Amino acid sequence: MSTETQSPNIERVGVVGCGQMGAGIAEVCARAGMDVMVHEIDADSAERGRTRLLGSFDKAVARSKMTEEERDETISRLTFTTDLADMADRRMVIEAVIEDEKLKTDVFTTLDNVQVLVGVVLIAWASRPIAFCIGDALSNSQVINAGTINPGANAGGVLWQCLLQSICSG
Ligand SMILES: NC(=O)c1ccc[n+]([C@@H]2O[C@H](COP(=O)([O-])OP(=O)(O)OC[C@H]3O[C@@H](n4cnc5c(N)ncnc54)[C@H](O)[C@@H]3O)[C@@H](O)[C@H]2O)c1
Repeated sequence: MSTETQSPNIERVGVVGCGQMGAGIAEVCARAGMDVMVHEIDADSAERGRTRLLGSFDKAVARSKMTEEERDETISRLTFTTDLADMADRRMVIEAVIEDEKLKTDVFTTLDNVQVLVGVVLIAWASRPIAFCIGDALSNSQVINAGTINPGANAGGVLWQCLLQSICSG
């Protein structure tokens, strides 16, 4: 087992899908100081995701939850792409696309080929066996199902911070 596998030291993360869950997770990661690459299906969807994220940061500034400098610094850690191959330098990718088994499997199979070390799949509670099928189909990646933690709800943001901390510390 390589040193990297024992201690992933994850600083660069990817988020696939920037809807309700993906945008919230990208925000938690960027605010935790990570370099975050967000993937969307096309340029229009990526722009919608970016607008959603910027709106959330502006709200945080308006509520004095962060300063303008912190907002700008956090935004500078976010990049957007429509090409999954750009995730090749990420060591953890969180999948947050629509609830479609084939799409989720395709996303992870592509990511597995670029050797992403740890993947987090978001599966609604009722579909949770899908996570095991996806995990079984991969050879290089480890998959965790975290679909029940919504970063925008109640303590969800804090739970995501704990999850990321625990993954990142190996
Ligand atoms: N919203 C919740 O409260 C919640 C709770 C638990 C689990 N989940 C699970 O989380 C996942 C995401 O849910 P959501 O509510 O964020 O959905 P959403 O519809 O808000 O967002 C999904 C995003 O995926 C994008 N997308 C679609 N195809 C894509 C592709 N090929 N590549 C990249 N992006 C693509 C869409 O453009 C959209 O922005 C689902 O599996 C859902 O079941 C959601």
